[in-house]
Amino acid sequence: MIDFNEYVDNYEELHTKNIKQSGFKPAYFDEHKIKTLSNDFFRNKQSNKKIRFLNFGCGIGKSEIYINQYFRNVEITSVDISIKSILKAKARNVQFKNIDFKHFTELQELYFDSKFDVIFLANVLHHIPVNLHLNTLSFLKSQLDQDGYFYLFEHNPKNFLTKKAFHSCEFDMGCEMISDKTIIQMLKNTGYHNIKRKFILFFPKFFHFLIPLEKYLYFLSLGGQYWVKGTR
Ligand SMILES: C[S@@+](CC[C@H](N)C(=O)[O-])C[C@H]1O[C@@H](n2cnc3c(N)ncnc32)[C@H](O)[C@@H]1O
Repeated sequence: MIDFNEYVDNYEELHTKNIKQSGFKPAYFDEHKIKTLSNDFFRNKQSNKKIRFLNFGCGIGKSEIYINQYFRNVEITSVDISIKSILKAKARNVQFKNIDFKHFTELQELYFDSKFDVIFLANVLHHIPVNLHLNTLSFLKSQLDQDGYFYLFEHNPKNFLTKKAFHSCEFDMGCEMISDKTIIQMLKNTGYHNIKRKFILFFPKFFHFLIPLEKYLYFLSLGGQYWVKGTR
């Protein structure tokens, strides 16, 4: 598998180059995911209590700014197996006092004081060896609060542009895209409940005026990415 320690210094540059065809900058996609997730979360849960949020495979910490923006009362734990990514993520988010960044090498090393209301994975699972997928999903389920939500975002192999970008991306070399159906099956196999899937990111920037229509297209398997959610 790819060692992200080698990509920390030019991760953003490579990513920007890779998604150039969409017309968007990486931050657009980072924010889109958190906005989508928070809309769904707060539709299901009206609560003023502090949200415990786990960003699993946080990389260089590009989502934390949006997690803080869309979840006002939140305590974030961000973990990754790449030590250099964690160090960069820490430096990048130094202004936030509500984030605990943790490096780990094996799941068994991860210990959390409490369960999470939200567990979030953004384009991480395809970087984890296939033989560890079920273990990882099962471990994450065990870290979910009884009323918590698990959200996993992945590239959609059915979208031609996404597929092209994936196969030309240096840090996706040797990885396989994972279909929504495979993820749903794995979530079922690991005992998740209330599993739902939605497709997102249908339009490039050139067609930005169509973006408000995206929320009606979630069932079409043509979006650039998809997300799957589940509960314990
Ligand atoms: C494409 S990056 C995505 C980073 C971040 N989620 C984002 O959206 O910017 C994939 C990340 O998954 C991490 N990763 C790979 N294998 C992992 C594992 N077994 N457990 C946790 N993170 C892992 C990598 O180190 C890398 O930071």
